[in-house]
Amino acid sequence: MREFKILAVVVFFTLVVYIGVEPFAHSQMHAHVEGHDFVYDGTADIEEANTRVENTKEALKKAQDELAKIQGIDDAPQEDIVKAQEAIKKQEGALVKAEETVKRKSLFWNNVASIAQLDANVSNGEASFGTCMACHNGAGINMGGVIPPSLDHVGSLYDRNYLIALLKDPAMASNVDHKYANTMMHPMGSVMAMVTSDQQIADIVEYMMQNKVGELEPKAAFEEACVRCHAVRYAKITQLGDTPEFKEEKDALAYKIKVLDEQALVKAYMGKLPPDLSMMIRARSPHYMETFVENPQTQLPGTSMPRVGLTKENYEKVKTYLEEVGDPSKPAREAIGPWVILFFVVFAVLAYLWKKSQWKDLH
Ligand code: HEC
Ligand code: HEC
Repeated sequence: MREFKILAVVVFFTLVVYIGVEPFAHSQMHAHVEGHDFVYDGTADIEEANTRVENTKEALKKAQDELAKIQGIDDAPQEDIVKAQEAIKKQEGALVKAEETVKRKSLFWNNVASIAQLDANVSNGEASFGTCMACHNGAGINMGGVIPPSLDHVGSLYDRNYLIALLKDPAMASNVDHKYANTMMHPMGSVMAMVTSDQQIADIVEYMMQNKVGELEPKAAFEEACVRCHAVRYAKITQLGDTPEFKEEKDALAYKIKVLDEQALVKAYMGKLPPDLSMMIRARSPHYMETFVENPQTQLPGTSMPRVGLTKENYEKVKTYLEEVGDPSKPAREAIGPWVILFFVVFAVLAYLWKKSQWKDLH
């Protein structure tokens, strides 16, 4: 029975480390970010903007205290006073801006909610959808930084509310408006000049929800949503899509140059080349990955990666694909697992019986 006690102690401490200590250490190293279940109604954006207002207020208060402190000193140097006054002005300016952002975002998302309520006319939507083809034409031509993605499954892949927001103002929808002084400058910004009425937005989105749909395989979902920016070396995927097989080395090299040219454009647009995603799912926790894709700003404030607007279902597909790529031997390992456990159980029983038979005569 002593063996069982030792086993129980070992199991106990292993469980403590596994369930208690490791997650605790993890939570201390990464700030926890609440997900919002792939709902795109602006709540998270407005909260984020409100937090910035609060932080700016605190910084302003600090700057004011600093000035009071300096003025309390009898012969404080004039230049310190001027510096402290300038710091206050700067924070006051930031506060006005932060408060404006809250207002702008609240108005924007209220507008999105009201567009979602409009009665849509699908055939008008079909006619207006033609304007999208100016860029989303499948020709593989870079437009302002990336190759516009295929819209063949746009109605299934993306959230409906997100699509409304995207057509109203792409930079606001993808939560990168801080990058643009005027959000018309976003590579898809000119859609704001082409699709000018709320009714037109409602019509186009309804048309897409009804006609541009279809069940996507995990790989296809990933390619439509992420591959204009991210390569996956392990699967021979680049920003140009699947790498074709070439017989001639010359052709392979020519293709490689095309890839490098495309990557240079993506880099110029994003400020850096987006990382290869082959191993990313193993490097980041599932929660991090999910909340990052849902709203990159929450995990990396100021990042240039736009919010993509996937539905939950399609995020799961993207995740499935990245898991397959990052860990190609997983299915084989999982198939073997139960047999390994069975082996150990049988082995343990045999070992126990053997021990009993050996000790039987000694007692
Ligand atoms: C001026 C060119 C242009 C026009 C016109 C245009 N788009 Fe885009 N669209 C882009 C580019 C470029 C991107 C990629 C932006 C990025 O990844 O930052 C994009 C991205 C998208 C995405 C993916 C967004 C995301 O966050 O993942 C959707 C969906 C989309 N466009 C739909 C439309 C629809 C619908 C229309 C027509 C009403 C349209 N686009 C018109 C250039 C355009
Ligand atoms: C318009 C370009 C663009 C698209 C589309 C895009 N990303 Fe990114 N992504 C970036 C950039 C740029 C970075 C680097 C961010 C940084 O370091 O600030 C990045 C970084 C990442 C990271 C690493 C985050 C980290 O902690 O370092 C992950 C994970 C990621 N992207 C996943 C995805 C997935 C999944 C998709 C598709 C659903 C996607 N991205 C679509 C541009 C993009």
